Amino acid sequence: MKPIQVGLLGIGVVGTGTFNVLRRNQAEIQRRAGRGITITMVADLDVARAQSVVGEGVQVVSDARAVIANPDIDIVIELIGGYGIAKTLVLEAIAAGKHVVTANKALLAVHGTEIFAAASAKGVMVAFEAAVAGGIPIIKALREGLTANRIQWIAGIINGTTNFILSEMRDKGLDFGVVLKEAQRLGYAEADPTFDIEGVDAAHKATIMSAIAFGIPVQFDKAYIEGITKLAAQDIRYAEQLGYRIKLLGIAKRRTDGVELRVHPSLIPAKRLIANVEGAMNAVVVQGDAVGTTLYYGKGAGSEPTASAVIADLVDIARLHTADAAQRVPHLAFQPNTFDQAKSELPVLPMSEVVTSYYLRLRVADEPGVLAKVTGILANAEISIDAVLQREADEVGGEGANQTDLIILTHDCVEARMNAAIAAMQALPTVLEPITRIRKEELA
Ligand code: HSE
Repeated sequence: MKPIQVGLLGIGVVGTGTFNVLRRNQAEIQRRAGRGITITMVADLDVARAQSVVGEGVQVVSDARAVIANPDIDIVIELIGGYGIAKTLVLEAIAAGKHVVTANKALLAVHGTEIFAAASAKGVMVAFEAAVAGGIPIIKALREGLTANRIQWIAGIINGTTNFILSEMRDKGLDFGVVLKEAQRLGYAEADPTFDIEGVDAAHKATIMSAIAFGIPVQFDKAYIEGITKLAAQDIRYAEQLGYRIKLLGIAKRRTDGVELRVHPSLIPAKRLIANVEGAMNAVVVQGDAVGTTLYYGKGAGSEPTASAVIADLVDIARLHTADAAQRVPHLAFQPNTFDQAKSELPVLPMSEVVTSYYLRLRVADEPGVLAKVTGILANAEISIDAVLQREADEVGGEGANQTDLIILTHDCVEARMNAAIAAMQALPTVLEPITRIRKEELA
Protein backbone atom coordinates (compact mmCIF):
# COMPACT_ATOMS: atom_id res chain seq x y z
CA MET A 1 0.00 0.00 0.00
CA LYS A 2 1.35 3.46 -0.79
CA PRO A 3 2.42 5.57 2.19
CA ILE A 4 -0.15 7.86 3.74
CA GLN A 5 0.85 11.42 2.87
CA VAL A 6 1.11 14.08 5.49
CA GLY A 7 1.28 17.87 5.21
CA LEU A 8 2.80 19.81 8.08
CA LEU A 9 1.72 23.37 8.94
CA GLY A 10 4.52 24.98 10.97
CA ILE A 11 7.90 23.33 11.45
CA GLY A 12 9.18 24.75 14.72
CA VAL A 13 10.36 22.72 17.71
CA VAL A 14 7.59 20.08 17.62
CA GLY A 15 7.42 19.93 13.81
CA THR A 16 11.14 19.31 13.60
CA GLY A 17 10.87 16.58 16.24
CA THR A 18 7.99 14.99 14.33
CA PHE A 19 9.94 14.97 11.09
CA ASN A 20 13.07 13.54 12.73
CA VAL A 21 11.32 10.80 14.75
CA LEU A 22 9.22 9.73 11.77
CA ARG A 23 12.37 9.40 9.67
CA ARG A 24 14.45 7.72 12.39
CA ASN A 25 11.81 5.14 13.37
CA GLN A 26 10.28 4.81 9.91
CA ALA A 27 10.57 1.03 9.60
CA GLU A 28 9.01 0.22 12.99
CA ILE A 29 6.29 2.83 12.57
CA GLN A 30 5.42 1.32 9.19
CA ARG A 31 5.17 -2.17 10.72
CA ARG A 32 2.81 -0.81 13.37
CA ALA A 33 0.68 1.32 11.06
CA GLY A 34 0.47 -1.23 8.27
CA ARG A 35 1.75 1.32 5.77
CA GLY A 36 4.34 4.05 5.50
CA ILE A 37 3.69 7.53 6.86
CA THR A 38 5.51 10.28 4.98
CA ILE A 39 5.62 14.03 5.40
CA THR A 40 5.64 15.15 1.78
CA MET A 41 4.82 18.85 2.14
CA VAL A 42 5.59 21.50 4.75
CA ALA A 43 4.27 25.05 5.08
CA ASP A 44 6.29 27.55 7.06
CA LEU A 45 6.82 31.28 6.75
CA ASP A 46 10.58 30.73 6.91
CA VAL A 47 10.90 28.54 3.82
CA ALA A 48 14.71 28.45 3.78
CA ARG A 49 14.98 27.31 7.40
CA ALA A 50 12.19 24.75 6.92
CA GLN A 51 13.89 23.38 3.80
CA SER A 52 17.14 23.01 5.72
CA VAL A 53 15.31 20.90 8.34
CA VAL A 54 13.56 18.54 5.91
CA GLY A 55 16.07 18.37 3.05
CA GLU A 56 15.45 18.57 -0.67
CA GLY A 57 13.05 15.65 -1.01
CA VAL A 58 10.16 17.45 0.73
CA GLN A 59 8.23 20.33 -0.83
CA VAL A 60 8.29 23.45 1.35
CA VAL A 61 5.91 26.35 0.76
CA SER A 62 5.07 29.52 2.64
CA ASP A 63 1.32 29.24 2.02
CA ALA A 64 -0.45 26.77 4.31
CA ARG A 65 -3.43 26.72 1.96
CA ALA A 66 -1.27 25.13 -0.72
CA VAL A 67 -0.90 22.11 1.60
CA ILE A 68 -4.63 21.95 2.27
CA ALA A 69 -5.37 22.24 -1.46
CA ASN A 70 -3.00 19.39 -2.39
CA PRO A 71 -5.21 16.38 -3.29
CA ASP A 72 -2.41 13.93 -2.45
CA ILE A 73 -2.27 14.98 1.21
CA ASP A 74 -4.34 12.72 3.48
CA ILE A 75 -3.49 14.21 6.89
CA VAL A 76 -2.73 17.81 7.89
CA ILE A 77 -0.72 18.38 11.07
CA GLU A 78 -1.43 21.81 12.57
CA LEU A 79 1.46 23.04 14.72
CA ILE A 80 0.88 26.78 14.39
CA GLY A 81 -0.89 27.29 17.71
CA GLY A 82 -3.36 29.88 18.97
CA TYR A 83 -7.01 30.52 18.14
CA GLY A 84 -6.46 32.75 15.08
CA ILE A 85 -5.27 31.51 11.69
CA ALA A 86 -4.89 28.00 13.14
CA LYS A 87 -8.66 27.74 13.57
CA THR A 88 -9.33 28.90 10.02
CA LEU A 89 -6.80 26.44 8.59
CA VAL A 90 -8.05 23.50 10.65
CA LEU A 91 -11.63 24.16 9.51
CA GLU A 92 -10.47 24.53 5.91
CA ALA A 93 -8.50 21.28 6.11
CA ILE A 94 -11.58 19.48 7.46
CA ALA A 95 -13.74 21.01 4.73
CA ALA A 96 -11.21 19.71 2.19
CA GLY A 97 -11.66 16.20 3.62
CA LYS A 98 -8.30 15.98 5.36
CA HIS A 99 -7.78 14.31 8.72
CA VAL A 100 -6.19 16.70 11.19
CA VAL A 101 -3.61 16.16 13.91
CA THR A 102 -3.08 19.09 16.24
CA ALA A 103 -1.18 19.94 19.41
CA ASN A 104 -3.30 23.06 19.84
CA LYS A 105 -4.95 22.87 23.29
CA ALA A 106 -6.09 26.51 23.18
CA LEU A 107 -7.95 25.93 19.94
CA LEU A 108 -9.70 22.76 21.12
CA ALA A 109 -10.55 24.03 24.62
CA VAL A 110 -12.22 27.12 23.17
CA HIS A 111 -13.51 26.00 19.74
CA GLY A 112 -13.52 22.21 20.11
CA THR A 113 -17.30 21.84 19.82
CA GLU A 114 -17.34 23.57 16.43
CA ILE A 115 -14.25 21.76 15.17
CA PHE A 116 -15.37 18.27 16.20
CA ALA A 117 -18.84 18.86 14.75
CA ALA A 118 -17.31 19.93 11.43
CA ALA A 119 -15.04 16.86 11.43
CA SER A 120 -17.90 14.48 12.22
CA ALA A 121 -20.04 15.97 9.47
CA LYS A 122 -17.20 15.50 7.00
CA GLY A 123 -16.30 12.01 8.28
CA VAL A 124 -12.71 12.92 9.13
CA MET A 125 -10.71 12.55 12.33
CA VAL A 126 -9.24 15.31 14.48
CA ALA A 127 -6.59 13.80 16.74
CA PHE A 128 -4.96 15.72 19.56
CA GLU A 129 -2.86 13.50 21.84
CA ALA A 130 -0.12 16.15 21.88
CA ALA A 131 -2.49 18.83 23.16
CA VAL A 132 -2.49 17.55 26.76
CA ALA A 133 0.62 16.69 28.73
CA GLY A 134 2.89 16.41 25.67
CA GLY A 135 4.38 12.94 25.46
CA ILE A 136 2.14 11.32 28.10
CA PRO A 137 -0.59 9.33 26.30
CA ILE A 138 -3.28 10.67 28.61
CA ILE A 139 -5.87 11.22 25.87
CA LYS A 140 -5.51 7.59 24.80
CA ALA A 141 -5.77 6.46 28.41
CA LEU A 142 -8.89 8.53 29.11
CA ARG A 143 -10.63 7.84 25.80
CA GLU A 144 -9.84 4.16 25.49
CA GLY A 145 -7.91 2.54 28.32
CA LEU A 146 -10.31 3.75 31.02
CA THR A 147 -13.48 3.48 28.96
CA ALA A 148 -15.09 1.03 31.39
CA ASN A 149 -14.94 3.53 34.23
CA ARG A 150 -17.12 6.20 35.62
CA ILE A 151 -14.29 8.66 36.08
CA GLN A 152 -14.61 10.51 39.36
CA TRP A 153 -11.80 13.01 39.24
CA ILE A 154 -8.64 14.03 37.46
CA ALA A 155 -5.87 16.09 39.01
CA GLY A 156 -2.83 16.96 36.96
CA ILE A 157 0.42 18.84 36.93
CA ILE A 158 -0.08 19.78 33.30
CA ASN A 159 2.17 22.77 32.88
CA GLY A 160 5.90 22.15 32.99
CA THR A 161 6.91 25.81 33.17
CA THR A 162 5.05 26.43 36.40
CA ASN A 163 6.13 23.12 37.91
CA PHE A 164 9.73 24.03 37.17
CA ILE A 165 9.24 27.42 38.86
CA LEU A 166 7.54 25.89 41.92
CA SER A 167 10.27 23.26 42.25
CA GLU A 168 12.96 25.94 42.15
CA MET A 169 11.09 28.11 44.66
CA ARG A 170 10.94 25.18 47.08
CA ASP A 171 14.49 23.95 46.51
CA LYS A 172 16.12 27.36 46.78
CA GLY A 173 13.67 29.24 49.00
CA LEU A 174 13.36 31.96 46.36
CA ASP A 175 10.39 34.16 45.48
CA PHE A 176 8.39 33.78 42.29
CA GLY A 177 9.81 36.79 40.41
CA VAL A 178 13.42 35.73 40.91
CA VAL A 179 12.79 32.17 39.73
CA LEU A 180 10.74 33.29 36.73
CA LYS A 181 13.69 35.33 35.45
CA GLU A 182 15.99 32.35 35.91
CA ALA A 183 13.49 30.07 34.13
CA GLN A 184 13.37 32.50 31.20
CA ARG A 185 17.16 32.60 31.05
CA LEU A 186 17.31 28.79 30.95
CA GLY A 187 14.55 28.54 28.32
CA TYR A 188 12.02 26.88 30.67
CA ALA A 189 9.73 29.91 30.46
CA GLU A 190 8.89 31.92 27.38
CA ALA A 191 9.65 35.62 26.96
CA ASP A 192 5.90 36.19 27.43
CA PRO A 193 5.04 33.53 30.01
CA THR A 194 1.51 34.79 30.73
CA PHE A 195 -0.44 31.71 29.56
CA ASP A 196 1.76 29.43 31.64
CA ILE A 197 2.13 31.38 34.88
CA GLU A 198 -1.48 32.58 34.96
CA GLY A 199 -2.77 29.01 34.62
CA VAL A 200 -4.40 29.49 31.21
CA ASP A 201 -2.42 26.73 29.48
CA ALA A 202 -3.25 24.29 32.28
CA ALA A 203 -6.92 25.31 32.08
CA HIS A 204 -6.99 24.57 28.34
CA LYS A 205 -5.71 21.07 29.08
CA ALA A 206 -8.00 20.49 32.08
CA THR A 207 -10.97 21.59 29.95
CA ILE A 208 -10.17 19.02 27.28
CA MET A 209 -9.72 16.27 29.87
CA SER A 210 -13.00 17.17 31.62
CA ALA A 211 -14.90 16.73 28.36
CA ILE A 212 -13.37 13.32 27.68
CA ALA A 213 -13.74 12.14 31.27
CA PHE A 214 -17.33 13.20 31.87
CA GLY A 215 -18.89 13.36 28.41
CA ILE A 216 -19.58 17.11 28.59
CA PRO A 217 -18.73 19.69 25.92
CA VAL A 218 -15.45 21.64 26.20
CA GLN A 219 -16.32 24.73 28.26
CA PHE A 220 -13.13 26.70 28.78
CA ASP A 221 -15.12 29.83 29.57
CA LYS A 222 -16.50 28.14 32.71
CA ALA A 223 -13.11 27.08 34.10
CA TYR A 224 -11.83 28.81 37.23
CA ILE A 225 -8.24 29.92 36.62
CA GLU A 226 -5.68 31.13 39.14
CA GLY A 227 -1.94 31.06 38.41
CA ILE A 228 1.14 31.01 40.58
CA THR A 229 2.22 34.66 40.39
CA LYS A 230 1.08 35.52 43.91
CA LEU A 231 2.70 32.54 45.64
CA ALA A 232 5.23 33.51 48.28
CA ALA A 233 8.29 31.45 49.23
CA GLN A 234 7.12 31.50 52.86
CA ASP A 235 3.88 29.67 51.97
CA ILE A 236 5.87 26.94 50.26
CA ARG A 237 8.00 26.70 53.41
CA TYR A 238 5.04 26.62 55.83
CA ALA A 239 3.27 24.05 53.66
CA GLU A 240 6.36 21.88 53.85
CA GLN A 241 6.46 22.17 57.64
CA LEU A 242 2.87 20.88 57.66
CA GLY A 243 3.71 17.93 55.37
CA TYR A 244 2.49 19.38 52.06
CA ARG A 245 3.89 20.52 48.71
CA ILE A 246 2.34 23.28 46.62
CA LYS A 247 1.64 22.41 42.97
CA LEU A 248 -0.36 24.08 40.23
CA LEU A 249 -3.11 21.53 39.66
CA GLY A 250 -5.66 21.24 36.90
CA ILE A 251 -8.67 19.60 38.51
CA ALA A 252 -11.82 18.14 36.96
CA LYS A 253 -14.15 16.54 39.46
CA ARG A 254 -17.54 14.93 38.97
CA ARG A 255 -20.22 15.57 41.58
CA THR A 256 -23.86 14.54 41.54
CA ASP A 257 -24.86 18.17 40.87
CA GLY A 258 -22.20 19.09 38.33
CA VAL A 259 -18.53 19.28 37.49
CA GLU A 260 -15.77 21.24 39.17
CA LEU A 261 -13.29 22.55 36.61
CA ARG A 262 -10.49 24.57 38.12
CA VAL A 263 -6.80 25.43 37.96
CA HIS A 264 -5.07 26.91 40.99
CA PRO A 265 -2.11 26.33 43.28
CA SER A 266 -2.93 23.49 45.67
CA LEU A 267 -1.37 22.00 48.75
CA ILE A 268 -1.05 18.24 48.33
CA PRO A 269 0.32 15.78 50.89
CA ALA A 270 4.08 15.38 50.37
CA LYS A 271 3.68 11.60 50.54
CA ARG A 272 1.57 11.40 47.36
CA LEU A 273 3.55 10.34 44.30
CA ILE A 274 2.33 13.35 42.34
CA ALA A 275 3.67 15.70 45.02
CA ASN A 276 7.15 14.49 44.09
CA VAL A 277 6.91 15.36 40.42
CA GLU A 278 9.63 17.97 40.06
CA GLY A 279 11.05 20.30 37.44
CA ALA A 280 9.35 20.57 34.07
CA MET A 281 7.77 17.09 34.27
CA ASN A 282 4.02 16.52 34.03
CA ALA A 283 1.81 14.00 35.81
CA VAL A 284 -1.89 13.24 35.83
CA VAL A 285 -3.83 11.25 38.42
CA VAL A 286 -7.11 9.76 37.26
CA GLN A 287 -9.58 8.17 39.67
CA GLY A 288 -12.04 5.76 38.13
CA ASP A 289 -14.68 3.74 39.96
CA ALA A 290 -13.44 0.40 38.65
CA VAL A 291 -9.72 0.92 38.25
CA GLY A 292 -9.15 3.07 41.34
CA THR A 293 -6.30 5.56 41.22
CA THR A 294 -3.97 5.63 38.22
CA LEU A 295 -0.97 7.90 37.62
CA TYR A 296 0.59 8.97 34.32
CA TYR A 297 3.99 10.65 34.33
CA GLY A 298 6.35 12.02 31.71
CA LYS A 299 7.54 14.97 29.70
CA GLY A 300 4.77 17.44 28.99
CA ALA A 301 6.63 19.43 26.38
CA GLY A 302 9.70 19.38 24.18
CA SER A 303 10.49 18.44 20.63
CA GLU A 304 10.54 14.63 20.58
CA PRO A 305 8.22 13.96 23.56
CA THR A 306 5.50 16.00 21.83
CA ALA A 307 6.41 14.45 18.47
CA SER A 308 5.83 11.05 20.08
CA ALA A 309 2.20 12.04 20.67
CA VAL A 310 1.76 13.59 17.21
CA ILE A 311 3.05 10.43 15.53
CA ALA A 312 0.84 8.19 17.67
CA ASP A 313 -2.10 10.12 16.20
CA LEU A 314 -0.72 9.68 12.67
CA VAL A 315 -0.52 5.92 13.24
CA ASP A 316 -4.08 5.81 14.59
CA ILE A 317 -5.34 7.65 11.53
CA ALA A 318 -3.32 5.46 9.17
CA ARG A 319 -4.96 2.40 10.71
CA LEU A 320 -8.49 3.78 10.91
CA HIS A 321 -9.04 6.12 8.02
CA THR A 322 -10.59 3.46 5.83
CA ALA A 323 -12.89 2.29 8.65
CA ASP A 324 -16.51 3.33 8.82
CA ALA A 325 -16.66 6.60 10.83
CA ALA A 326 -19.07 4.98 13.29
CA GLN A 327 -16.42 2.39 14.20
CA ARG A 328 -13.86 5.00 15.23
CA VAL A 329 -13.34 6.19 18.80
CA PRO A 330 -15.43 9.40 19.12
CA HIS A 331 -13.34 12.59 19.34
CA LEU A 332 -14.25 13.18 22.98
CA ALA A 333 -14.79 9.48 23.84
CA PHE A 334 -18.59 9.77 24.14
CA GLN A 335 -20.96 9.70 21.17
CA PRO A 336 -21.57 13.35 20.17
CA ASN A 337 -25.37 13.13 20.35
CA THR A 338 -25.16 12.51 24.12
CA PHE A 339 -23.38 15.77 25.01
CA ASP A 340 -26.32 18.16 25.34
CA GLN A 341 -28.07 15.99 27.89
CA ALA A 342 -24.84 15.58 29.88
CA LYS A 343 -24.29 19.34 29.82
CA SER A 344 -27.65 20.04 31.43
CA GLU A 345 -27.26 17.22 33.95
CA LEU A 346 -23.66 18.05 34.79
CA PRO A 347 -23.17 21.83 34.53
CA VAL A 348 -19.72 23.23 35.27
CA LEU A 349 -20.18 24.62 38.77
CA PRO A 350 -19.22 28.19 39.70
CA MET A 351 -16.20 28.48 41.99
CA SER A 352 -18.42 29.61 44.88
CA GLU A 353 -19.94 26.09 44.91
CA VAL A 354 -16.63 24.19 44.87
CA VAL A 355 -15.94 22.12 47.97
CA THR A 356 -12.36 21.82 49.10
CA SER A 357 -10.12 22.36 52.12
CA TYR A 358 -7.87 25.36 52.69
CA TYR A 359 -4.54 26.69 53.86
CA LEU A 360 -4.85 30.16 55.35
CA ARG A 361 -1.99 32.43 56.38
CA LEU A 362 -2.79 35.47 58.48
CA ARG A 363 -0.26 38.08 59.53
CA VAL A 364 -1.59 39.02 62.95
CA ALA A 365 -0.70 41.21 65.90
CA ASP A 366 0.92 38.99 68.52
CA GLU A 367 -1.43 39.83 71.40
CA PRO A 368 -3.98 38.00 73.60
CA GLY A 369 -7.25 36.84 72.07
CA VAL A 370 -6.26 37.02 68.38
CA LEU A 371 -6.30 33.27 67.80
CA ALA A 372 -9.62 32.98 69.67
CA LYS A 373 -11.25 35.64 67.46
CA VAL A 374 -10.01 34.01 64.26
CA THR A 375 -11.07 30.51 65.24
CA GLY A 376 -14.38 31.92 66.51
CA ILE A 377 -15.16 33.26 63.02
CA LEU A 378 -14.35 29.88 61.49
CA ALA A 379 -16.49 28.11 64.11
CA ASN A 380 -19.44 30.44 63.41
CA ALA A 381 -19.11 29.63 59.73
CA GLU A 382 -19.09 25.92 60.63
CA ILE A 383 -15.63 25.54 59.12
CA SER A 384 -13.71 22.82 60.89
CA ILE A 385 -10.00 23.35 61.62
CA ASP A 386 -7.61 20.53 60.77
CA ALA A 387 -4.30 22.03 62.01
CA VAL A 388 -2.86 25.29 63.31
CA LEU A 389 0.73 26.46 63.11
CA GLN A 390 1.91 29.63 64.79
CA ARG A 391 5.44 30.84 64.31
CA GLU A 392 7.41 32.60 67.02
CA ALA A 393 7.11 36.37 66.44
CA ASP A 394 10.92 36.67 66.51
CA GLU A 395 11.22 34.09 63.74
CA VAL A 396 8.78 35.95 61.50
CA GLY A 397 9.51 39.61 62.11
CA GLY A 398 12.96 39.58 63.73
CA GLU A 399 13.88 40.09 67.37
CA GLY A 400 11.28 42.02 69.36
CA ALA A 401 8.63 41.78 66.62
CA ASN A 402 5.04 42.09 67.79
CA GLN A 403 3.39 40.37 64.86
CA THR A 404 3.43 36.83 63.63
CA ASP A 405 2.09 34.39 61.04
CA LEU A 406 -0.84 32.20 61.92
CA ILE A 407 -1.32 29.27 59.55
CA ILE A 408 -4.57 27.32 59.59
CA LEU A 409 -5.50 24.19 57.66
CA THR A 410 -9.22 23.52 57.41
CA HIS A 411 -11.36 20.54 56.56
CA ASP A 412 -13.60 20.66 53.49
CA CYS A 413 -16.10 23.47 53.15
CA VAL A 414 -17.87 25.21 50.32
CA GLU A 415 -15.91 28.10 48.78
CA ALA A 416 -18.67 30.70 49.32
CA ARG A 417 -18.61 30.05 53.04
CA MET A 418 -14.83 30.35 53.14
CA ASN A 419 -15.02 33.64 51.20
CA ALA A 420 -17.36 35.07 53.84
CA ALA A 421 -15.16 33.83 56.71
CA ILE A 422 -12.04 35.33 55.09
CA ALA A 423 -13.84 38.68 54.72
CA ALA A 424 -14.82 38.60 58.41
CA MET A 425 -11.28 37.68 59.53
CA GLN A 426 -9.80 40.35 57.30
CA ALA A 427 -11.97 42.96 59.01
CA LEU A 428 -10.38 42.24 62.42
CA PRO A 429 -8.02 45.09 63.37
CA THR A 430 -5.49 42.54 64.55
CA VAL A 431 -5.22 40.98 61.06
CA LEU A 432 -2.53 43.19 59.59
CA GLU A 433 -2.12 42.12 55.94
CA PRO A 434 -4.26 40.55 53.21
CA ILE A 435 -4.98 36.94 54.13
CA THR A 436 -3.34 34.29 51.92
CA ARG A 437 -5.65 31.45 50.92
CA ILE A 438 -4.42 28.38 49.05
CA ARG A 439 -6.71 25.46 48.37
CA LYS A 440 -5.75 22.00 49.57
CA GLU A 441 -6.42 18.63 47.94
CA GLU A 442 -5.82 15.35 49.75
CA LEU A 443 -6.10 13.33 46.48
CA ALA A 444 -6.94 10.29 48.55
N1 HSE B 1 3.99 25.64 27.91
C1 HSE B 1 3.60 24.32 28.25
C2 HSE B 1 4.25 23.91 29.55
C3 HSE B 1 3.98 23.29 27.23
O1 HSE B 1 5.01 24.67 30.14
O2 HSE B 1 3.97 22.81 30.00
C4 HSE B 1 3.04 23.24 26.11
O3 HSE B 1 1.74 23.02 26.52
